[in-house]
Amino acid sequence: MSSKFLDLQKVPLEVKTKASNLQDDVTLLMPPIGLGCFASHDEEKKKVAKGWILSALKSGYRHLDTAWMYDTERLVGEAIRESGIDRREIFVTTKLPWHHPGYVLQSIDESLKAAQLDYFDLYLIHFPQAVRYPEGYGRPKNPDDPNAIEAIKSPTIQETWADMEKVLASGKARAIGVSNFSEKTLSELLQTAKVRPAVNQIELHPFLAQTKLLQFCKQNGIKVTAYTPTAYEKGRTNPVIVEIAKQYSVSPSQAVLAWHVKRGCAATPKSTNEARQRENLMLPDLSDEDMKRIDALDSNLRLCNFPNERGMIYGWTMEQLGWD
Ligand SMILES: NC(=O)c1ccc[n+]([C@@H]2O[C@H](COP(=O)([O-])OP(=O)(O)OC[C@H]3O[C@@H](n4cnc5c(N)ncnc54)[C@H](OP(=O)(O)O)[C@@H]3O)[C@@H](O)[C@H]2O)c1
Repeated sequence: MSSKFLDLQKVPLEVKTKASNLQDDVTLLMPPIGLGCFASHDEEKKKVAKGWILSALKSGYRHLDTAWMYDTERLVGEAIRESGIDRREIFVTTKLPWHHPGYVLQSIDESLKAAQLDYFDLYLIHFPQAVRYPEGYGRPKNPDDPNAIEAIKSPTIQETWADMEKVLASGKARAIGVSNFSEKTLSELLQTAKVRPAVNQIELHPFLAQTKLLQFCKQNGIKVTAYTPTAYEKGRTNPVIVEIAKQYSVSPSQAVLAWHVKRGCAATPKSTNEARQRENLMLPDLSDEDMKRIDALDSNLRLCNFPNERGMIYGWTMEQLGWD
């Protein structure tokens, strides 16, 4: 079997966005593999996160994926400065937490302040649900806390997107997009959008291949980034993936990440381990036949964000989310 590896520098995703006048077309290049910078809500784990973000930058990562909710924006900014790498060479994504009137412009300012950066490359609405923040509670950091959030229908996704467009116009983000959006919620947003979302970041792996949503995004010029891209232990132990990985002398996670890239998606694997970070940048060029074998594993299985015992995901039903 060929030991050919993909040259990731040659396959960046062309992210289509607009200049701050919201008229002129701009294309940004997003490296297909980014480092997931969710460090858990455990303070001890967060303390060491700067070290592994820095090791990833030194290992060649030029795409970092953080979020207001991860509370790692400060660490991302510090790691970038400590790395000595020119800021302009690194594609940094962060996310608006739950959307709510007045919070979009406030949120990006908080994120920029935390990271001590002048701009983000990509700013995403983290979830399509709007959330009411209980009086005096402050802003919820842990979305699993049922007392902290109450998902509501207003403001609409369209109202929040109009504020996201103001962020783009301000130059504080070079591109704007969404996360966890379905064809249903994207269609709602597109009805009034002046600027289309540049990216939709979704749970995506061989067991949740999201083929129809990928097609919809492609038709609408929206690039897709995969989260939970390695599919955790399920991906690492699946016999088909293990067998394919052996053929190319790589690990199962490398085989799965290669599948994402060959499908034209970006992926943001998180690894705190330098050897595995390097491994995740060394991806084999899978044959069409092996791609099809991995495609066939799709079972519409969510491993990261799935409904609770009441059938809800952060206050919304699967139907409201438009998730199958
Ligand atoms: N938009 C959203 O709603 C959303 C939701 C979830 C995640 N995300 C983003 O996606 C990122 C990644 O998501 P995730 O953590 O759920 O999934 P993941 O990256 O697929 O899984 C992370 C786990 O895989 C292990 N791992 C990574 N590479 C490996 C390799 N080559 N071999 C063996 N184990 C490997 C890591 O362990 P070690 O650290 O020990 O290597 C870690 O336990 C997050 O950090 C975040 O940026 C976004």
